[in-house]
Amino acid sequence: MKRRDLLVSMAAALGSGALAGVGFAAKGNQHLHEKGENSLISHHLKIQTASYLLREKPTHGLISLSPDGPPPVLYGRQGKPMALNVTNTLDEYTTIHWHGIRLPNEMDGVPYLTQLPLAQGDSFQYKFTPPDAGTHWYHPHCMTMTQIARGLTGVMVIKESIDPGFNDDQVINLRDFKLDKQDALRTPYTLRGAARSGTHGNVLTANWRQAPVYDHPTGGLVRLRLANTDTTRIYKLYLSSAKGEIIAWDGHPIEQSVPMPDENQLLILGPGQRVDIALKMPASEWQTISIFARKSGADRVMASLRAKGPNLKRTLAELKPLKPNPVSQPNLKQAKIHEFVFGWSPDGLAPNNGFCGTLGKTFWSINRKPWPGDNAKGTGPLATLEFGKSYILRLRNESPNLHPIHLHGLAFKPLRSNKRKLAANWTDTMLLLKDEIIDVALVADNRGDWAFHCHVIEHQKTGLAGFIRVA
Ligand code: C2O
Ligand code: CU
Ligand code: CU
Repeated sequence: MKRRDLLVSMAAALGSGALAGVGFAAKGNQHLHEKGENSLISHHLKIQTASYLLREKPTHGLISLSPDGPPPVLYGRQGKPMALNVTNTLDEYTTIHWHGIRLPNEMDGVPYLTQLPLAQGDSFQYKFTPPDAGTHWYHPHCMTMTQIARGLTGVMVIKESIDPGFNDDQVINLRDFKLDKQDALRTPYTLRGAARSGTHGNVLTANWRQAPVYDHPTGGLVRLRLANTDTTRIYKLYLSSAKGEIIAWDGHPIEQSVPMPDENQLLILGPGQRVDIALKMPASEWQTISIFARKSGADRVMASLRAKGPNLKRTLAELKPLKPNPVSQPNLKQAKIHEFVFGWSPDGLAPNNGFCGTLGKTFWSINRKPWPGDNAKGTGPLATLEFGKSYILRLRNESPNLHPIHLHGLAFKPLRSNKRKLAANWTDTMLLLKDEIIDVALVADNRGDWAFHCHVIEHQKTGLAGFIRVA
């Protein structure tokens, strides 16, 4: 029996109450906390409900890792083992996925595919050694629609072993909330949205705040880490300063340069994507650099960086270039092509997502087959890749809607598009435009069943999902 089916049948055999005690949600590996293993970076994360002032009145029923603030930035180090000890205190199931981290499959946090969902009171230790430095993020992969919408998205920074020489780091986690007039959470999805480009929130935030201002040294060098962790919104961004350089894309140092965005040349960041910008702070104190999002009507300031203190007079040239992450280069001459068509599906049955939530409908498909659900038994992979071999994945969008297509566990590189020129930079999430066909290449060098889906969560939850097996 394949692991996926084993997990599915275990889940089926057990009632919801019994799941809480399943050994797969191991609380073991306690020895890791013993003294002497001090190289282990360990975080204890308690998933819980939270309240926060997102707008005028406190919003209750948010989900975070503390009762009164957004999920924190979690830090790790390239090549250093880390343990994320997750405890679920919610009265619903969850798992946590580490988006962008190339980790062992059983640590990937995908319900029924790599582990059973965590019931209330369950703990799970996610342990891995991140091979890649960069800006990644974390989010639930069970009850995804509502738990992400209620706030559970955080940035994970894996630091390089060689410090590039910034004065400061600034993480900006971009995401919306959907609130009513009382600032209470509204249902984050609509069937109309799910069948089209998704449902958008109405309160746009950076680190759960509206237009926050962050102080950084005057004339200093700041590493701005922008992450779009929204369920739906494709952010179109630009900065009020051109004194900077894009240094990483979706967690990986760039190999081909990407121009700094401005009002006429926006930076398009789909849900799940990240960009790192080396920024030079203004030379006089209290001057600011703002990050704008294009909105119909008026552009919106998402966050600002304000110069503070004496002028450090740094220059971008002083920064050490980021070392490339150890991603294997695909051999294009030998690469076999697998094609994936993303499109509509006839309105089918509700996917069987077990304890992980459903929107009750199917609108989307990969290769014309809608994902039958996280907990559907006997569902095979969309493709099986041979370990160590190179592949080209041909991603074909047959719909008028945009889809940020994400693959777990592996990094890939765009080769070409039928619509535009793409910079060949490693990524884990490729934004497909209307009717776009993009070829990406990878080496299948991480074994396991890797989730493959659209990161517009309403699409993911209504059929636009599946998995790719590396065996
Ligand atoms: Cu960021 Cu399967 O997701
Ligand atoms: Cu992921
Ligand atoms: Cu989509």
